Amino acid sequence: MTLLSVQHLTKHFQIHALGREVRPFEGLSFELKAGEFKLVTGPNGAGKSTLLRCIYRSYLPTSGRAVYHSSLGSIDLACAADVDITLLRRSEIGYVSQFLRPRPRASALELVAEPLLHAGVARPLALEQAATSLQEFGLKPELWEAYPTTFSGGEQQKVNLARALIRPNRLLLLDEPTASLDLAARTALLRRLRELKERGVGLLGIFHHPEDVGSLVDNGIEIQIQEEEVAVGRQA
Ligand SMILES: Nc1ncnc2c1ncn2[C@@H]1O[C@H](COP(=O)(O)OP(=O)(O)OP(=O)(O)O)[C@@H](O)[C@H]1O
Ligand SMILES: [Mg+2]
Repeated sequence: MTLLSVQHLTKHFQIHALGREVRPFEGLSFELKAGEFKLVTGPNGAGKSTLLRCIYRSYLPTSGRAVYHSSLGSIDLACAADVDITLLRRSEIGYVSQFLRPRPRASALELVAEPLLHAGVARPLALEQAATSLQEFGLKPELWEAYPTTFSGGEQQKVNLARALIRPNRLLLLDEPTASLDLAARTALLRRLRELKERGVGLLGIFHHPEDVGSLVDNGIEIQIQEEEVAVGRQA
């Protein structure tokens, strides 16, 4: 079953200060099935993160479609209303970045429990599951009640993963989630991703060390650097 159908997707950035346009990718097309793990590859600056952000809709694509087959019907993520995107992010589409964005005075447990609380899970159960998730990724229990703003990069990333993966998704976008993880946490992540894949979650991921997830990857999509930057807004 196709979960996501990306058709001729294009993203351009206008750099107004320089009168130039950066074009990470143009006319990109691919399909992602339920339970498929697709690796996004390409050199630094090619547009890998931009692609994931366009699908998660942190960025608005310039043109093309990204048709997502949700449990409630099909929707084009490239032009869906913000309210629908918010709903999908809460219920079906997950995104794991390389960094946690900790809030001041929110404990690790609180941050991890939040997606469950938003989904209407009762607080005691949400906190219990948050503790299980933190345990799984190997965050020391003495840090659970502490504020992640002061955590090390790896500790923050454990909180980030525990939070992003606490709720079942149907589509999961991963942007270099293993960069600062120790072996135990990488193993826990691999175990969790395998479980999600077996449950039919579609995975689209960027991994700096693809061998971290080698056994799970089904295929890949390569993004090339576009040779030309285009000058805009200026007469020749
Ligand atoms: N918000 C933005 N405004 C302008 N240009 C941007 C923006 N976001 C990304 N870019 C540009 O788009 C291009 C692709 O960036 P992107 O972050 O997607 O690359 P990447 O393939 O993820 O690279 P890396 O491997 O270094 O993470 C880069 O040239 C970058 O400068
Ligand atoms: Mg990137």
